[in-house]
Amino acid sequence: MKILIASSIDSEAIKQLQEKHDVICAFNADEAKLKALIVDREVLIFRSGVQINAAVMGQAPQLKFLVRAGSGLDNLDVEYAQSHEIKLVRVPQPGAKAVAELAFAMMLSLSRQMIRADVLLRKGRWIKSELTGFLLTGKTLGIIGMGNIGSRVGHLGKAWGMDVLGCVEHPSPERAAAFLEKGLRLTSCEEVLETADYVSIHVPLKDSTRNLIKSPELARMKPGAYLTTLARGGVVDEQALYHELTAKGRLAGAGLDVHLQEGEGKISPLAKLENVILTPHIGAMTIDSQREIGSRVINLMESFAKENEL
Ligand code: 3PG
Repeated sequence: MKILIASSIDSEAIKQLQEKHDVICAFNADEAKLKALIVDREVLIFRSGVQINAAVMGQAPQLKFLVRAGSGLDNLDVEYAQSHEIKLVRVPQPGAKAVAELAFAMMLSLSRQMIRADVLLRKGRWIKSELTGFLLTGKTLGIIGMGNIGSRVGHLGKAWGMDVLGCVEHPSPERAAAFLEKGLRLTSCEEVLETADYVSIHVPLKDSTRNLIKSPELARMKPGAYLTTLARGGVVDEQALYHELTAKGRLAGAGLDVHLQEGEGKISPLAKLENVILTPHIGAMTIDSQREIGSRVINLMESFAKENEL
């Protein structure tokens, strides 16, 4: 098969694909480069950081199979793929574990001011008396988007002794009952924002979630609450968040793994703030998750080749 790998995936998986197929690797290429490379490709493997739009796919008349080596589809023109009968498969599970753990790491780190403590100690500052933090145990964790990743964050919260509540785009009594069995309470987005000490955001980016969390929503949050987002840049209004993080008596801190502007050289407006942790979209970046994604991608390729006699 003629494969284009447009994002970095597990190196062992790339090696195995190269042994059996005609593989081009071009990670995070711009539109012009993608258009040139995709021309004769039958399969495209990608993650975030590349724009797989209609113009790009339009250059590839033989394109039959798209593999999203992860979860989010906001950088793919799904409608184009569907209307051109290009098969699309995502591999969301392995990365979800890693994203959920990073959300939790951010909450712990914010609560204990770990980054500030580390930065200052390296300069010889022993500011122990200023570093009293908060327990997560006994606090309320609110999940906006209690789907695949969000519910995992909820389970971690539960295990940590937190009271967990969350909201979903399409609630139903059945879903509420299923969540309740696991100790997670399904409620409205408003109640999540108003009640939680820690709000963690895990919705995909689409029309209904763009700027979902802006000034009025942030204003509902409790004074001293923390916000983490590992969803997508564009879900949280960064300027509004900046305001809430600098206003007296408002939010205590925030952790963002996803940003409106992502990529080398881009600096978040929140970078000026000490009570913010910023990471470069590393949610799914654990060896374990990427290895598992890689091996699932290999299996997908083998089945696809067999089905299509390629
Ligand atoms: C996802 O959508 O799976 C996560 O945000 C991770 O994205 P990535 O695979 O582009 O790192």
